[in-house]
Amino acid sequence: MELSFITSNPGKVKEARKYLEPLGVNVRQVNFGYPEIQADTLEEVAEYGVKWLSERIEGPFFLDDSGLFIESLMGFPGVYSAYVYKTLGIEGILKLLEGVTDRRAYFKSVIAYWDGKVHIFTGTVEGEITTEPIGSDGFGFDPIFRPSGFEKTFAEMTTEEKNRISHRGRALEAFAKWLKENLK
Ligand code: IMP
Repeated sequence: MELSFITSNPGKVKEARKYLEPLGVNVRQVNFGYPEIQADTLEEVAEYGVKWLSERIEGPFFLDDSGLFIESLMGFPGVYSAYVYKTLGIEGILKLLEGVTDRRAYFKSVIAYWDGKVHIFTGTVEGEITTEPIGSDGFGFDPIFRPSGFEKTFAEMTTEEKNRISHRGRALEAFAKWLKENLK
């Protein structure tokens, strides 16, 4: 079967394929912009996006809305992560944390799947923000995020290593498990 992944981010597609291809699911990247509403939670943003898309494109399809939540910044950038990445960027985040000792942060990923109704799958990973960018793999904030219990940032890991512990890996695992049970 083929599932459309609505995203402009090839890094996310690469991660999703590792989970879904073993199930015989062919993941097709569809670059179709959708509104990311201003809301308090990633779940609300994802659910609005998937419903909006369901009126415009053929299902089944899914999208992923993720965010980086920094404890000492009260969860900022959180739901605004995409905008903050585009504007302040990694250097801006490092500047905001200059001299800050509490560098705890977590990533959260929400996958919203549409098959006539919405199904939500989530995953989180805890870690800390480094004091400088390290590594060249991955995407987004990967070079400044070091997951708890690891010496490497996400940008120093292979897709397999990152998937095993990442927010998206966990959400994808829940999604893949659900697909396995429901696509018989
Ligand atoms: P969105 O889910 O595409 O809206 O992502 C929000 C922001 O967080 C974007 O700037 C992404 O680059 C960043 N982001 C999402 N997932 C990850 C990840 O796994 N690693 C690093 N940055 C990420």
